[in-house]
Amino acid sequence: MDSDFDFDRYDRVRPIRWTGDTLDLLDQRKLPFAVEYVHCADYRAVADAIANLTVRGAPAIGIAAAWGAVLAANDVEADDGRAALEALEPRLATLNAARPTAVNLAWALARMRRALLGAGADWRRALQREAHAIATEDLAANRRMGALGAALIEPGSQVLTHCNTGSLATAGFGTALGVIRAGVAQGRIDKVYAGETRPWLQGARLTVWELQQDGIMPTLIADAAAAHLMRTGAVQWVIVGADRICANGDTANKIGTYQLAIAARHHGVRFMVVAPSSTVDLDTPDGDAIHIEEREPSELLHIAGVRTAANEIEAWNPVFDVTPHSLVDVIVTEKGVITRPDAAAMRAAFG
Ligand code: MRU
Repeated sequence: MDSDFDFDRYDRVRPIRWTGDTLDLLDQRKLPFAVEYVHCADYRAVADAIANLTVRGAPAIGIAAAWGAVLAANDVEADDGRAALEALEPRLATLNAARPTAVNLAWALARMRRALLGAGADWRRALQREAHAIATEDLAANRRMGALGAALIEPGSQVLTHCNTGSLATAGFGTALGVIRAGVAQGRIDKVYAGETRPWLQGARLTVWELQQDGIMPTLIADAAAAHLMRTGAVQWVIVGADRICANGDTANKIGTYQLAIAARHHGVRFMVVAPSSTVDLDTPDGDAIHIEEREPSELLHIAGVRTAANEIEAWNPVFDVTPHSLVDVIVTEKGVITRPDAAAMRAAFG
């Protein structure tokens, strides 16, 4: 697929643009009704943009943080990379703390640290090169995963996805949505269902819009309709992304993913997790060790600024959940496909 696939036809949205002076981020809080970029001129603006979901999606926040590190270096004077790193460390910690669950954020900043440690007087250029490399490699990984994942899908299939895992969440093409793009282009996928992804509505506001840009018309469902959809036999695959994949194959992803995996297993629907190897975290043994982000109850108590629940009630808003590896049929990374993931299979794939 890689050589003759018309990527430009199927992948037009770019959420992250480096201008040389600023990091411009497509404001995902305003989609689909306004397409506006926020211009970040310093690392604090980047950390805020990650925390307030201007930019979101595991690979995208890693890439944004890498460029945040470049901005953080603007006013740092140092003779070599090691000295620069010492000065930068508190700022890198601020970027790292912007969101806790997706490992791609810490992974990208660790790469930026390593790039500095290996650099001499040209450390500023080394930082920029590394941020570029992180973005470029992510796009290449997504295209590769698109080919690997689509090859598993029988022609004529119908699929369900959750959250937004597309170009908006990555350097381009997407993870789960990349597989779906490739599957549609190859005639393997006839129909795409997208869950709305309460409470932030990544599915309703982002995935549906992004696919529409490609000329793919998905069908939106309420999250609560997913088990019923599976019961009717309408879908053969659930295809999702990941924010962290543990050493035993347990997977953190957007809240609601776990219940999709349970329903999928119950109804004999296959469950595919698509994520670059930058999402694999062998230092986290299993899902119990993952820090699950909890966000403001107001995200749950309002839709588009309008309160939808009685005043003064409490709300609990965990925004990720863990799917145990036993419910995952395949994990697709750019390094290959892992069938029935467990600790041994993960070790064999990632050493
Ligand atoms: O809170 P978000 O929108 O950052 O959550 C995003 C997800 O959970 C995605 O499924 C995941 O990051 C994979 S994106 C390629």
